[in-house]
Amino acid sequence: MSPQEPDQAVRDKTPSETGAGGGTQPILKVRDLNRAFGGLLAISDLTFDVRPGVIRAVIGPNGAGKTTLFNLITGVLPTSGGQIIFEGADIGNWKSHKVAKLGISRTFQTVELYHGMSVLENVMVGRHVRTRCGMLLSGLRLPVVRREERQIREDAEKILDLVGLLPKAHEEAESLPLGEQKLLEVARALATDPKLILLDEPAAGLNESETDRAARLFQDICRQGRTVILVEHDMKLVMEIADEILVLNFGEKIADGPPDLIRKDPQVVEAYLGSEGELA
Ligand SMILES: Nc1ncnc2c1ncn2[C@@H]1O[C@H](COP(=O)(O)OP(=O)(O)O)[C@@H](O)[C@H]1O
Ligand SMILES: [Mg+2]
Repeated sequence: MSPQEPDQAVRDKTPSETGAGGGTQPILKVRDLNRAFGGLLAISDLTFDVRPGVIRAVIGPNGAGKTTLFNLITGVLPTSGGQIIFEGADIGNWKSHKVAKLGISRTFQTVELYHGMSVLENVMVGRHVRTRCGMLLSGLRLPVVRREERQIREDAEKILDLVGLLPKAHEEAESLPLGEQKLLEVARALATDPKLILLDEPAAGLNESETDRAARLFQDICRQGRTVILVEHDMKLVMEIADEILVLNFGEKIADGPPDLIRKDPQVVEAYLGSEGELA
């Protein structure tokens, strides 16, 4: 099944009904993962699973190691030990482009779009990773390349439609307000047709209605059959859309479970609020 065309019967079911909670193998398994920066362990003996087709949130105070975890999964940083197993393959220490080819893509905590390019071109560049000819040959304007270019454009337009940016396809990417730049980053990450998409604080800096729009988008992405790992500080958003939440503090897992349990977990409340209470 292609992640873009989920079987209707699967789409209409919750992850537990598809067996994702039972017989299905996790899409990602992290085992005893470590990453040191000098004497600091930014990720410390971290073990967790991600079931396919869910929204898996990762939360924790600033400096907890969330972005480092994404950098390790996507091959931006080498590990200092442990395993990252994606669909059965240990991808720890693989090069980023190889990880991307396997079906993992991400957005960045600070928006990193291509400047001087239109909204549509930003997504088309991402799409080129998936195609035969690639960027180099496309300069030659061969018929096969032109056909491929047309397909890339159509695919990119579909993705822009999904994130609600199709009307702005021909505007300069950098002219968009921050909220839409963040949506565009998600669109570009989708362009590689990933099975697993990692979103690093995608709602930071968004107002309430933009956050609502982003929440619906993340659920749509999940309904397409993709798996989402969401790093996010907006606790209301996390509690609303996450199926399961991993909580990190100083690089260690302090809790892991569904929103209702995490909300009341004393260690989680302590790490966030420094006192008794309940989250969002
Ligand atoms: N490239 C780096 N070099 C040195 N220290 C780093 C680097 N990246 C992250 N760190 C440190 O690792 C810890 C975790 O950082 P980070 O993963 O960015 O946390 P989070 O995303 O949860 O806020 C922090 O103490 C941070 O200073
Ligand atoms: Mg971070």
